[in-house]
Amino acid sequence: MIKRRTVHRCQECGGLAARWSGRCPTCGAWNSLVEEVEERATPAASVGRSLLEGAARGELPVLLAEVDAAASTPRPTGIEELDRVLGGGLVPGSVTLLGGEPGIGKSTLLLQTLGALAAGGARALLVSAEEAPQQVKRRAARLDALVAGLWIVPSTSLPEVAAAVAEVDPDVVVVDSIQTVYDPDLDAAPGSVTQVRGCAQALVGLAKARDLTTVLVGHVTKEGALAGPRVLEHVVDTVLTFEGERHHALRLLRAVKHRFGATGELGLFEMTEQGLIGVPDPSSLFLGDRGAETPGSAVFPAMEGHRPLLVELQALVSPSGLAMPRRSAQGLDGGRLSLLVAVLERRAGVALGGADIFASAVGGVRIAEPGADLALCLALASAARDLVLPLDLVACGEVGLGGEIRQVAQTPRRLAEAARLGFRRALVPAGADLPSSALTLTRVATVADAVAWVATAGRGGGGGAVGGGAARLAAGTGPSGPPGPVSGRAGPGRGAASRSGALSGGGAPDDRW
Ligand SMILES: Nc1ncnc2c1ncn2[C@@H]1O[C@H](COP(=O)(O)OP(=O)(O)OP(=O)(O)O)[C@@H](O)[C@H]1O
Ligand SMILES: [Mg+2]
Repeated sequence: MIKRRTVHRCQECGGLAARWSGRCPTCGAWNSLVEEVEERATPAASVGRSLLEGAARGELPVLLAEVDAAASTPRPTGIEELDRVLGGGLVPGSVTLLGGEPGIGKSTLLLQTLGALAAGGARALLVSAEEAPQQVKRRAARLDALVAGLWIVPSTSLPEVAAAVAEVDPDVVVVDSIQTVYDPDLDAAPGSVTQVRGCAQALVGLAKARDLTTVLVGHVTKEGALAGPRVLEHVVDTVLTFEGERHHALRLLRAVKHRFGATGELGLFEMTEQGLIGVPDPSSLFLGDRGAETPGSAVFPAMEGHRPLLVELQALVSPSGLAMPRRSAQGLDGGRLSLLVAVLERRAGVALGGADIFASAVGGVRIAEPGADLALCLALASAARDLVLPLDLVACGEVGLGGEIRQVAQTPRRLAEAARLGFRRALVPAGADLPSSALTLTRVATVADAVAWVATAGRGGGGGAVGGGAARLAAGTGPSGPPGPVSGRAGPGRGAASRSGALSGGGAPDDRW
């Protein structure tokens, strides 16, 4: 028996409320509840129906040891950075959700992926629910993805999509986007949470029934006007996010959820006229435009998944005329910046209280690791004192509230990558277990030690180089002879992603410590 009732559903989180109110009781979003009619089968009916469906599909128990696991082996897509994030490729019959802000490049990435799969002999179908075929064709020509075996259906109706799948019988289908597809049988407006979830569930059913690899595009809007991918996360196998700053060419692909492998791997692309191009050597990209004479600059060897990534952290400290001095963090955690400023003040005597402080991770990348604390402290101290840090230096260490410097996981991998790129010295926690390293190590136990080290090793802006490696590194040549890879990255659009370091100006002189 089917029961009907009126409910109020939040368009941001999908939460239900019996009565309308201005604020969602589940997620706290304002003005997000919309009235919907919900149809529910009574428990007896739904149990009976699922029993019948199970019997009809012949879903009988099998011994786990006898299950054929080969079917869930990932198949490479041909887009290397995507395969890296997915742990090898797309698993046949899996459903992947790709979320990202408008204009970030979701359609571009998936069109390139379909093109590569079709070029490899797969049958690929693009459900273009937002763009006309002519528009998609122009993009495909630009991306070199006009290949045989790639079909397009410009449809927004779920039954039409199912019919197209039945006709083309593809190996892989992309639905761009899930928010614009609607099921006429559902009593809710297109784009509503009910529609999005209903259509996603139907497409998941189709994927499993036909062993059809499916990728859904999901929009994320700041206002949450459309149902975001959060609602869909439970029904799909894999959730990917595509990020990047609008004004940078760099795009970052991550897996938030992955039923077939680990999350944590990072895929890096550069947006170019020819589409998204993988960035196999990201450290070079981030350091490509590094200035030689900038106080307030330190390099942190970050880890993104299994991949080390050297990122320049910049700080600018400027006397403030404001009652509440400014603290601004770009690509870094603002709370962490405030914490480190306080630790520098209280534990190392660096007076920053009356200064505006800006800090940034250069190149549009986000650094969330506490392991970046030491490098950020060095950048802040060197900016406050107007001292240039040695250019061949990297630093990693987590800073505690007591000013102590703690170890960071995978330090040897990080330092090996730094050595590969021509860096020659590293500031590391005193307790770091590093029997040998290609770098000259300076061990620091506290933030005060690190600040004291800056005072001796740093040099005033415009002075002579500290350490023979610095000038050579800036010029792109490693001290041991061969050209340093720091500025030697080949490939299209070199350095475009890292060119807009907004805070690259010199730090203001400050003699308060
Ligand atoms: N001719 C071009 N040269 C370089 N980059 C381009 C060109 N045309 C488009 N782009 C880039 O592609 C982006 C749009 O990509 P795409 O349409 O794949 O994004 P999307 O995430 O699918 O957007 P939406 O959410 O609107 O569907 C633009 O923001 C721009 O950065
Ligand atoms: Mg798009």
